[in-house]
Amino acid sequence: MFDVLKIRKDFPMLDGTKTNFNGKPLIYFDNAATTFKPYCVIDECNKYYLEENANSHRGDYDLAFKVDKNVDNVREKVANFIRAKKQEVVFTSGCSMAMNLIAYGYGFKYLKAGDEIILTEAEHASNVLPWFKISELTGAIIKYIELDEDGRATPENLRKAITKNTKVVSIAQITNVLGYKIDIKEMSKIAHEFGAILICDAAQSCPHMKIDVKDLDCDFLTMSAHKMCGPTGIGIMYGKFNLLEKMDPFLTGGGDNARFDMCGNVAFLVPPAKFEAGTMNLSAIYGFGAAVDYLTNLGMDNIEKYEMELRNYAISKLKTMQNVIIYNENADSGIITFNVKDVFAQDEASYLNSKGICVRSGEHCAKLLKDRLKTMATVRASFYFYNTFEEVDAFIEALKNGGNFLDAYFD
Ligand code: ALA
Repeated sequence: MFDVLKIRKDFPMLDGTKTNFNGKPLIYFDNAATTFKPYCVIDECNKYYLEENANSHRGDYDLAFKVDKNVDNVREKVANFIRAKKQEVVFTSGCSMAMNLIAYGYGFKYLKAGDEIILTEAEHASNVLPWFKISELTGAIIKYIELDEDGRATPENLRKAITKNTKVVSIAQITNVLGYKIDIKEMSKIAHEFGAILICDAAQSCPHMKIDVKDLDCDFLTMSAHKMCGPTGIGIMYGKFNLLEKMDPFLTGGGDNARFDMCGNVAFLVPPAKFEAGTMNLSAIYGFGAAVDYLTNLGMDNIEKYEMELRNYAISKLKTMQNVIIYNENADSGIITFNVKDVFAQDEASYLNSKGICVRSGEHCAKLLKDRLKTMATVRASFYFYNTFEEVDAFIEALKNGGNFLDAYFD
């Protein structure tokens, strides 16, 4: 068990002085949107600008060499974090870019009319919209795994949807609204039986649990640093090396090629450089490395266990409240999605804000879910390891005592 009060001292946003607009101390439960960053991450980003500011993979001087070395070290750290090989880790701006890179670099190249792409209704827009585009460009057909009663995508239901025409199965390991942990290992096995590739969107899982891409046997995996204590604007696409070799780059330009000529012949570098055209977000890469170290030191198993304790505690209280509808009572992550009866989700979020509590409301970029949830909008509270049981108590108290947007102004 780790010491949460000690951990909170690592975060400037949790130093006790931060308040919301009306002076209430902040309780931050929007960690599925983005997480707070510890000092060590901020310091490492600053180190790039203050001490090591040069471009990477271009300069023949010591300063540039230092940056090259650090970018390489961070790539190795991230690779170790997910048990990948260093050359299988491609830096991107985040999960959306990684998913677009897979869709355009692999999907556009290899899919044809009549091929099938399998998704779920619970996916985030970044794992839906690129595939809509690929479907439009290639004539491939989009299909969905039927979710079970709880809203979970199961291997059994993938078996019902998959056919010999399926070429891509793309699915989040933890979905961003319902928060179920999906059995990616079994899904990969099924996809491979049918000759399809399995893409794992790990945006909501890699901050909270151990990932082993070799064990999952996924073909691609995407991550965003900012949801795991790292900076915004950086993430990765992991891909099995043979797939990286055969797919096309999505962006092309400086830094991804060995040579090109006036006839349009281009010799791309080997992966990962082939996919990293343009100057990357170098300070964010520095910070990403520090975030990986920070989480590794805390221990991913400790993080997962603690967040489940917080979740179970919150659910046990919420269940007793007649005015609360919970949409994912049985989920296995720190995401709790709910509504207060007869209160529009955005009004509830504004009301909670008046108590200093930050939650997300609306459709959470998962706009295919509304038919299943039978509501246009929900409130989402999402925990991280620095949240406390006392914060959950304050949240429950706020839900009990309010629930009407106007209450916020007449307290
Ligand atoms: N993908 C982020 C979320 O679910 C922004 O809130």
